[in-house]
Amino acid sequence: MRILSVETSCDETGLSIIDTYQKEDGVHMEVQADTLLSQALLHAEYGGVYPSLAKREHAKNLGPLLIETLKQAECCIPAKEAKVSKETIGDIKELLYREPELFVHLTTLLTNIEKPDIDVIAVTHGPGLEPALWVGVNFAKALSLAWGIPIMPLNHMEGHLAAAFATKVAEKQYILSEPQLPALIMLISGGHTELVLLKKWFSTENRNDYEKIGSTRDDAVGEAFDKTARLLGLPYPGGIEIAKLAAAAREENLEKPYSLPRPMLKTNNYDFSFSGLKTATRNLVQGMGNPTNEQKKQIAREIEDAITEVLVTKTKRAIEEHGIRSLAVGGGVSASTHIRAALEALAEEYEDMTLYKPARELSTDNGLMIAFAAAMNTYKTNNLEIISANGNLSID
Ligand code: KG4
Ligand code: ZN
Repeated sequence: MRILSVETSCDETGLSIIDTYQKEDGVHMEVQADTLLSQALLHAEYGGVYPSLAKREHAKNLGPLLIETLKQAECCIPAKEAKVSKETIGDIKELLYREPELFVHLTTLLTNIEKPDIDVIAVTHGPGLEPALWVGVNFAKALSLAWGIPIMPLNHMEGHLAAAFATKVAEKQYILSEPQLPALIMLISGGHTELVLLKKWFSTENRNDYEKIGSTRDDAVGEAFDKTARLLGLPYPGGIEIAKLAAAAREENLEKPYSLPRPMLKTNNYDFSFSGLKTATRNLVQGMGNPTNEQKKQIAREIEDAITEVLVTKTKRAIEEHGIRSLAVGGGVSASTHIRAALEALAEEYEDMTLYKPARELSTDNGLMIAFAAAMNTYKTNNLEIISANGNLSID
């Protein structure tokens, strides 16, 4: 089955095309196209993602990115005559009335190329920034109308999860194979911090069976990194900046003079809270006036240590209380070398436990992870009319 995927939930516009086939050892996925445009530099000026700017950028970028994607997959074939009827163009115009630029790009493209050989269009419909999600959903609906291809709406967090379980076996080749169950998945991103139990792996009849057992009560982990980074005068997105400073502090063997809180470390549940860490960092930084570079490194290390300790402690408790046999981590924060190493060490404490993690380039938002999630849901295709964006969509 050939899948075209669309991701626009936050500040990355991602499209991909993969071919999937079932074999005895799992679902094989071959990457035929993978394109991504990040708006991070544009949003950096605002210190975070600015929703209406994100929406505008997605609308501007989707048309050119689609051409690039189809070309990469060698299915951008010029048509000898107009391929889409006037009536359909009228329907697409109505659908994209808020995105006139995207409408122009799309209709020029759609009337000039042959219908590509694609079986399903997979699109993120939540969670995320609703205006940004809508652009992707309407874009997918327009393609579906023009080409008569069904749409599959997908959960962005399931995309992160699918990227974690997709084992890279060769260049552009991935396999999704059933982990030992039950599995525990930690989803850590700019908008989410969740512990999810995976009790049943997908088959041709069933989807994965998820149960969310813990989540954040306020800021997400990535948000905590981004906000504390800002307090230290570091650019957005801050996670990677904190990681660099923290790594330097460890390498230079700097002293550890500061102590920040480990929120909810000892509470008897799997929930998280990171706003107290942000407040404590603010107080610490304000009390110092103008921290030196060395002090910034020391604080960054303490932030990373505090967050990692909370994540690992809660994960360890969940492993033991739920008889977990496989561990997975996904989402933008799973790019963190320090957090990966800590989870790797945790998995090693248990016999036969594997840590599933995304290829590093697939940790942060991208289009491929949505295609992988679609491969996990191939039995499910939906009717056009009932798909809508939902900023608060849950994984279970
Ligand atoms: O999944 P993602 O790309 O977007 C959302 O769905 O939110 O996650 C972005 C988050 C940002 O908060 C960013 O600071 C964080 O992932 N991040 C990191 C690292 N790389 C990205 N956090 C810690 N260490 C990193 N190396
Ligand atoms: Zn994400």
